[in-house]
Amino acid sequence: PASTTPLAHGDLAVAGVPLTEVAERFGTPAYLLDEGDVRARCRAYLRAFKDADVLYAAKAFLCRAMAHWVAEEGLGLDVCSAGELELAVTTGFPADRIVLHGNAKSPEDLRAALRLGVGRIVIDSASEIARLAAAVPPGSRQKVMVRVVPGIAAGGHAKIRTGTDDQKFGLSLTDGSAQHAIARILGQPTLELVGLHCHLGSQITTEKPYLCAVRRLVGLMARIKEQHGVTLPELDLGGGHGIAYRPGEDALDIASLARKVRAELTESCAAAGLPVPRLLVEPGRAIAGPAGVALYRVLAVKRTSGRTFVAVDGGMSDNPRPALYGVRYAPRLVGRPATADPEPVTVVGRHCEAGDVLADDVRLPGDVRPGDLLAVPVAGAYHLSMASGYNLVGRPPVIAVADGHARLLVRRESLEDFRGRDVGL
Ligand code: LLP
Repeated sequence: PASTTPLAHGDLAVAGVPLTEVAERFGTPAYLLDEGDVRARCRAYLRAFKDADVLYAAKAFLCRAMAHWVAEEGLGLDVCSAGELELAVTTGFPADRIVLHGNAKSPEDLRAALRLGVGRIVIDSASEIARLAAAVPPGSRQKVMVRVVPGIAAGGHAKIRTGTDDQKFGLSLTDGSAQHAIARILGQPTLELVGLHCHLGSQITTEKPYLCAVRRLVGLMARIKEQHGVTLPELDLGGGHGIAYRPGEDALDIASLARKVRAELTESCAAAGLPVPRLLVEPGRAIAGPAGVALYRVLAVKRTSGRTFVAVDGGMSDNPRPALYGVRYAPRLVGRPATADPEPVTVVGRHCEAGDVLADDVRLPGDVRPGDLLAVPVAGAYHLSMASGYNLVGRPPVIAVADGHARLLVRRESLEDFRGRDVGL
């Protein structure tokens, strides 16, 4: 995770920057992103997945700096809206290293993708084929992949499992809709089918489902060759690599995953008489998650019905994940030495509903009080990218920390921002 160092007086530094200093300078709540950690994770992926394309999944978190770091490190990008795409390309991200996803791509999404020249568009439904084929200017060809649902159950929570048939993403292998779609795509002169894609789900902590996906997709590639005489050159296994949110939790070992996937791919292709396709992976959480730290100020402490509620100045508007997926975090008191033993507390947000809980049943020093700072590690993925404007509480700023320096990347959302959009009476 982000390189934290304990300092004197109970303070904590991330990448050499004391958190008390960040709170002082930028206010709270605030999100820190350890640039060195993001870059190190990108490099670790490239080292592990040699001879593969690693695409950062922008949905985990995107801002211009993030796009810039990822591009500089040599990764590609997975986007799923014209917004993510435009932000990346206008930051200088090479469009040909970008893949566009989406189960319901809008006309604007497709127009932006074609205008900016994205490398691949991933077809997610049968109805998209004709729509996309017609949007490509005659005489040119758009490289596409097909998102296949391989019928594999994997992922940390029911809401983020996408490998089984009964859901909105992709085309099923089991009922033959993937095979039908592929036949239709191959008949479109403006589309060039370059490969198969699948994304099994998110927060997956074992390698097995990926190996199973390799076998099933190589099996489909073999059938495509048999039926259509076409050898597809690419195989995209999506993302979903799980991380530890609390000390002691399981995370997927990326180097081991890469080795096993490579071995399985080589073996399955040899058995099917196919050349080994180029591999693509799309990690989001595993790159951004551990590099982020959320910083809150305690506003109220309430002891009632045998429970201690510690209320902070953020909540479900900047981190909806505990409410959505029951995820557990390990907040830490920072900025002063603890003078009491740890006690079980519930860290709650400031929003007007009882479900606004950030961390249930965690241990904090028994003397935790208003004015204290709490840091929540592993906050870099799917917090701010899923943040809302609930209760008109502005979204927190994003601060890059590197080599002892902090710099503002994204400023705090202000009442002026809300007012600016509110144009009618
Ligand atoms: N590729 C595709 C096509 C995806 O749909 C996703 C995530 C990824 C890659 C990246 O997955 P990752 O490596 O980050 O697990 N909001 C949820 C996670 C939703 C993931 C959606 N798709 C959460 O907070 O856990």
